Amino acid sequence: MKRIEVAELLSNEDKYIDQPVKLSGWVKAFRNNQFIALSDGTTMKTIQVVVNNESIDESLIKRIGFHACIQIMGTVKKSLGKGQSIEIVADNVLILGDNDLGTYPLQPKRQTLEFLREQAHFRMRTNTMSAVFRIRHAMAFAVHNYFNSNGYHYLHSPIITGSDAEGAGEMFRVTTLDAKQPPLTDDGKVDFSEDFFGKATNLTVSGQLQAEIGALALGKVYTFGPTFRAENSNTTRHLSEFWMIEPEMAFFDIHDNMDLAENFLQSIIKYVLENCKDELEVLDARIIETEKNMKKELRRPMGLIESLEFVTSHEFERITYTEALQIIMNSKPYKKKKFEYMVTWGDDLHSEHERYLVEKHFKKPVIVRDYPKSIKAFYMRENEGTEPDKKTVAAMDILFPGIGEVVGGSQREERLDKLVERMEEVGIEPAEMQWYLDLRKFGGCPHSGFGLGFERIVQYVTGMGNIRDVIPFPRAPKTAEF
Ligand code: 4AD
Ligand code: MG
Repeated sequence: MKRIEVAELLSNEDKYIDQPVKLSGWVKAFRNNQFIALSDGTTMKTIQVVVNNESIDESLIKRIGFHACIQIMGTVKKSLGKGQSIEIVADNVLILGDNDLGTYPLQPKRQTLEFLREQAHFRMRTNTMSAVFRIRHAMAFAVHNYFNSNGYHYLHSPIITGSDAEGAGEMFRVTTLDAKQPPLTDDGKVDFSEDFFGKATNLTVSGQLQAEIGALALGKVYTFGPTFRAENSNTTRHLSEFWMIEPEMAFFDIHDNMDLAENFLQSIIKYVLENCKDELEVLDARIIETEKNMKKELRRPMGLIESLEFVTSHEFERITYTEALQIIMNSKPYKKKKFEYMVTWGDDLHSEHERYLVEKHFKKPVIVRDYPKSIKAFYMRENEGTEPDKKTVAAMDILFPGIGEVVGGSQREERLDKLVERMEEVGIEPAEMQWYLDLRKFGGCPHSGFGLGFERIVQYVTGMGNIRDVIPFPRAPKTAEF
């Protein structure tokens, strides 16, 4: 008999009533030595399997423990019990994999996320993690789906890069040179001309510069791949290896760019609302349970599903950096010196300021644009008509409640002279980036793009507090297990 999947069985129940079936899966629960909740991973849901010791050997029943792997054969019946409309009455059970509960790290009860992180080879078996990784999958699919149906081309930007313009100081070196005795140049520096690629290379911090090449040929492209940053940030928002989505579009100005980002974010969240109801309910219930004993001020202002619906049905707020600064400086907590940091025009906003804007003042996602030139990357387009000592660039960051920055992007500087001038100002050798300048010299055009931190948006959608719990195998300072 051919094995049937639980998802198929539950979505076509009528078809299978009174039919013989064969199923395999893991035991999620076993009540009264009679009722198994079986999961095969094809859906969040379990199917109830009824075993009785008239047809199944006592010694086999003893081996049906939590998370043991079994195969069953039986007949699909209408269920009279609560909580399910069908069940399988088993007449044969085969143990595919026993589970030694005496030494198994997981227990059939709530366990802390910190503990589960140390058990990454098992944590996906828990309801919470299973819901998170199903949603992560759905969101990755929604990303490709969105761009594909809107005329974008998926560009595979390289993981190993020879350009270090963007991430000075926070890149992971890629080398095959002997770490103990690397070849040296006459002035005593490591001689990377002897290295594998004949030059110094690193893991990429962004696919943007390559995406610009793509946009100026294919019009609209996007990248979606792993990105590496060697910052020593041990926070709930930073990973050393994370996935980034970077669309890049010819002929888009900063406003087109913001429109795209807003529409794109709303679409992928909508996709999850429409396709991951079971998963969201599990996560929503988890949050309610976690917040049960918390003070009201510390609880989320809305339920998880409610907050996602809110974001998809309300426009994001759009303000300039200068307006944002005014709101912060005029705020009660700022005047009462409740913030840790003071700010003046030209400073980067600290996360406490961003959170105030998004969570207290606007209570929804906010797009902040036109940042001071001095705090942003060299490739961002200088805005015309700004005062000489208050020059801004056409940059935009999108801030989300509870998360902070999810998107960073800009219109790119397409004017060759301005770009060269800026590179010299920040100390990038124009000759090293000839190809990037060529894009301006030969048939250049206004263009824009942004980067979405995939884990940050998955964090928002799943309501998980720590970014390490939304990537299967997190990499962070001193952490590269599994
Ligand atoms: O703001 P960032 O640094 O922008 C860029 O890299 C541009 N090249 C993007 C572009 O215009 N094409 O990073 C973009 C986003 C951030 O907004 C954040 O969501 C995420 O990437 N991000 C991180 N996510 C997890 N861990 C980290 N260490 C991250 N650093 C950035
Ligand atoms: Mg940024």
